[in-house]
Amino acid sequence: MSYITTLTRMWLTRTFKPFTFTNDYDYRLNFDDCENLGLYVHIPFCKKLCAFCPYCKEVYTYEKCDDYIDYLIKEIHLVGSQMSEKKQVTSLYFGGGTPALAAYRLYEIIAAINEYFIISEGIGLELHPDNVNKETLLVLKESGISKISIGIQSFQKKFLSVLGRKEVDFVQLSEVLKRTPFETVSMDFIFALPNQTIEDLKADIEMAFSSGANHIAIYPFINFSFTDSTVQVMGKKEKRVLLDEITRYCQTKRYIRDSIWTFSNSEHAKYSSMTRDNFLGFGCSATTLLINQFKVNTFSVEDYQKRIDGKELPTSLTTRFTKRQRMMYFLFWTSYSTKVNPDDFEKFFHVPLKKMYGFEFWIAQKLGFIIKENGIYFMTLKGAFYYHYYENYYTLSYIDQMWDVMRKEAFPDKISF
Ligand SMILES: C[S@@+](CC[C@H](N)C(=O)[O-])C[C@H]1O[C@@H](n2cnc3c(N)ncnc32)[C@H](O)[C@@H]1O
Ligand code: SF4
Repeated sequence: MSYITTLTRMWLTRTFKPFTFTNDYDYRLNFDDCENLGLYVHIPFCKKLCAFCPYCKEVYTYEKCDDYIDYLIKEIHLVGSQMSEKKQVTSLYFGGGTPALAAYRLYEIIAAINEYFIISEGIGLELHPDNVNKETLLVLKESGISKISIGIQSFQKKFLSVLGRKEVDFVQLSEVLKRTPFETVSMDFIFALPNQTIEDLKADIEMAFSSGANHIAIYPFINFSFTDSTVQVMGKKEKRVLLDEITRYCQTKRYIRDSIWTFSNSEHAKYSSMTRDNFLGFGCSATTLLINQFKVNTFSVEDYQKRIDGKELPTSLTTRFTKRQRMMYFLFWTSYSTKVNPDDFEKFFHVPLKKMYGFEFWIAQKLGFIIKENGIYFMTLKGAFYYHYYENYYTLSYIDQMWDVMRKEAFPDKISF
């Protein structure tokens, strides 16, 4: 598989040059010309760390989290004050870790963001089921949060115990959610757990929608090499059957698929921090994607704070794109939404998609990965499986390797893929 992906990358980028990340970085980020810019804020604290989880996170203490937020606000001022006027952005997402643990300071963080940015599509935040109580939801609402995402993983005890998580109180969850409505209530689930069947997943999906969710994300379990996970990995064939069954089931129920892993029961419900043309990330491990570069902040809370003290950006690694590399990146993440609109490509790159990748899209149609309707390319079931397969491979070979290095070293010299 590794040589196939390397050859594919060389072909699509028309160069032997790999993606190379180095420890150099810009002191001033150039995002003035970026349209469709999203914001992301990372808060890396959790009450209890889950063995299967790869994200940048630490055990929560009030003092550590409070101190971290002071620095986060300083980073926002450092980046924001570089602009001469306020910048229009699509959305702001808080992820983690468990950002709901910092609910009492969200108002301050959002106020700092609002000094420099105008948010047009709302503010989202991730919660652990333990955070879903009347008091916290009210604080979130008062702070301006319009979308919430709750990490349920499964409503069934047998799968939660495989993941080392405790049972979710379904009745209490439903009551609290009904009393405090949000524009989007999303719930995260993990599939491809040992012996999990489509019936288990259908039950989870229906319980989610009946408890007050209007959006769900069903992620395939990924076994990151550096985690202490003991969860057994499901075989490729079994996983494919399950993924197709989930998609077909959601289609028959007329749930709307808005990305490869997400479905909603209302067209107004949206929750996605991934599908943006460009985004700015604040906090440890947060990534930033601009027209010419992709950068990752340091994973070390201590070194993050030291850089901010020195009034420098906490960037750990940066890659600078060639035009074709940026196109490949654009197409990979746009495909995450299961469709590619050639007009969006042309608007971003000022060159028709057909001219740059007409042959590749023709082949993909012939192989049954995509179909074209009203000028837009849509992924088929087969295409969705292979996208998932490729993304899984990419995650395990590249992201896994990069995060493993970054967990151990605050500022590595260089990583090449
Ligand atoms: C930051 S957590 C969500 C909020 C909160 N910390 C919680 O766990 O409830 C983001 C989501 O990533 C997903 N996730 C974490 N580790 C994963 C893994 N190894 N494979 C697939 N999904 C994973 C889970 O569904 C989780 O809800
Ligand atoms: S899954 Fe959520 S609660 Fe568990 S360690 Fe990851 S971020 Fe923290």
